[in-house]
Amino acid sequence: MRAWTAADADFVLDMYSRWEVQRFIGTAPRVMTDLAEAQAAIQRWRARPDPVCGVWAVERVGTGRLLGTLLLKPIPASGDQLPLAPSGDIEIGWHFHPDAWGHGYATEAGRRGLAHAFAHGLPEVVAVTNPANTASQRVAARIGMSHQGRTDRYYNATCELFVAHPSRS
Ligand SMILES: CC(C)(COP(=O)(O)OP(=O)(O)OC[C@H]1O[C@@H](n2cnc3c(N)ncnc32)[C@H](O)[C@@H]1OP(=O)(O)O)[C@@H](O)C(=O)NCCC(=O)NCCS
Repeated sequence: MRAWTAADADFVLDMYSRWEVQRFIGTAPRVMTDLAEAQAAIQRWRARPDPVCGVWAVERVGTGRLLGTLLLKPIPASGDQLPLAPSGDIEIGWHFHPDAWGHGYATEAGRRGLAHAFAHGLPEVVAVTNPANTASQRVAARIGMSHQGRTDRYYNATCELFVAHPSRS
């Protein structure tokens, strides 16, 4: 896992322009449409000055092949006012290029993300998925996150909730 750089914009566009990647991300999913949008996203991800949270590129050791995104970030609470206020909880998330699905890369990156969070003292990390996103739910379960059922607590959406604590990872 490493910081995104401007040179990664083609990969970011290729990954996030695919509906199969975007369909379960956010409350109003849409695909990325041009390189400028990818470049702006990379700039936003690089600008997060935080020792624990981040949005990282995941690449294969040895080859440098880009695989996807691993993120740790404050998760917004459900609410009436936009932008939604932070809930106080930190979420972990994974977005991988379809060419990299089915190899355990998201699982490996997720484990590293949790280890990073707990090494920096976070008492808890949550993951939320669209109820239909079974692939993501399997990643959360595989890395030892505990399934708590459905919640409306975040994003003004009904999500499957997974929780991890340092002792369980
Ligand atoms: C969610 C997402 C990252 C899961 O990708 P994935 O490839 O299924 O997950 P992993 O990289 O952990 O790979 C696990 C799969 O590879 C298989 N696999 C092969 N080799 C493996 C290995 N060495 N270790 C672990 N799993 C391995 C597993 O059996 C598993 O398949 P299964 O779930 O069908 O049993 C992917 O579907 C995605 O990017 N979706 C779009 C973005 C998205 O929705 N993100 C989540 C938002 S909440």
